[in-house]
Amino acid sequence: MKHLLSIEKLSGADMRQILSAGAVLKRERGQHSSQPLAGQTWALIFSKSSTRTRVSFEVGVSELGGRPMFLSAADIQLGRGEPIRDTARVMGRMLHGAVFRTFAQSDVEEFARFSGIPTINALTDEEHPCQILADVLTIEERLGGIAGKVVTFVGDGACNVANSWIFAAAKLDLEVRIAAPRAFQPDAALLKRAGGKVIITEDLTAAAAGADVLYTDVWVSMGKEAESEDRIRALGGYQINQSLVKLAKPGALVMHCLPAYRGKEIDEATFEANADTIFSEAENRLHVQKAVLEWVGG
Ligand code: CP
Ligand code: NVA
Repeated sequence: MKHLLSIEKLSGADMRQILSAGAVLKRERGQHSSQPLAGQTWALIFSKSSTRTRVSFEVGVSELGGRPMFLSAADIQLGRGEPIRDTARVMGRMLHGAVFRTFAQSDVEEFARFSGIPTINALTDEEHPCQILADVLTIEERLGGIAGKVVTFVGDGACNVANSWIFAAAKLDLEVRIAAPRAFQPDAALLKRAGGKVIITEDLTAAAAGADVLYTDVWVSMGKEAESEDRIRALGGYQINQSLVKLAKPGALVMHCLPAYRGKEIDEATFEANADTIFSEAENRLHVQKAVLEWVGG
């Protein structure tokens, strides 16, 4: 039984396999000869909002021949306090796989353990593995490879997307730089677990110098809304803008997992100048997640 629960637990070889399959699925979209999920129903259980992840998984499951079943956590008994392990045991007896977006990483892991069906992490507070796989595919398409590249993450360096980048560093042999104020830097235990070439700094200018990719995410992640004002104050300045881009390598990519808040983590001009990369990154969620679906359950 395979699951995709985190970048931390995914081997470099499995990442490579998923990325290659995603590139083929992208090229051959609309001409797939096999429907590996034919006759299957996959649950999409979401405890948080989503546009890209929900749409890409609904389309992806359908294109592979399966039936997606979207379940807002608020509408099922999970939202009224039914334990994860009971929800998982019910779903495991009726469904063929599950895609789960929630808060605690341990909840996705518990679901996988008790359901006995392939389970995919569609974002937790700790990781966003599908996002990083799509990002890497985008970088490989545009820069010809990922090994040896420098990816500079700007903003909330302790968020799920930053964490998944940190875990990707050692597995794909790239350098990840996190530019964030001290209170928004990843914790030491996570860095130790990850290993790899990871630089943490408050110095945004130094972090951007010579980077191949400048990457950002929202300052206020889902679930952190009560901290909005403090975060916007503390993270002010940790923005990707035209002057920061000038410090990066000529032709550097500017990437954003979306949704974007213009004037906060990125300015309008920089966002629009890089819209083609950013929306290809969003599109690649579909292709790479189809590869993930095949890898875990096809
Ligand atoms: N990037 C991403 O996961 O977007 P959604 O929250 O819209 O799914
Ligand atoms: N860090 C963001 C990612 C959104 C896709 C969040 O968790 O809200």
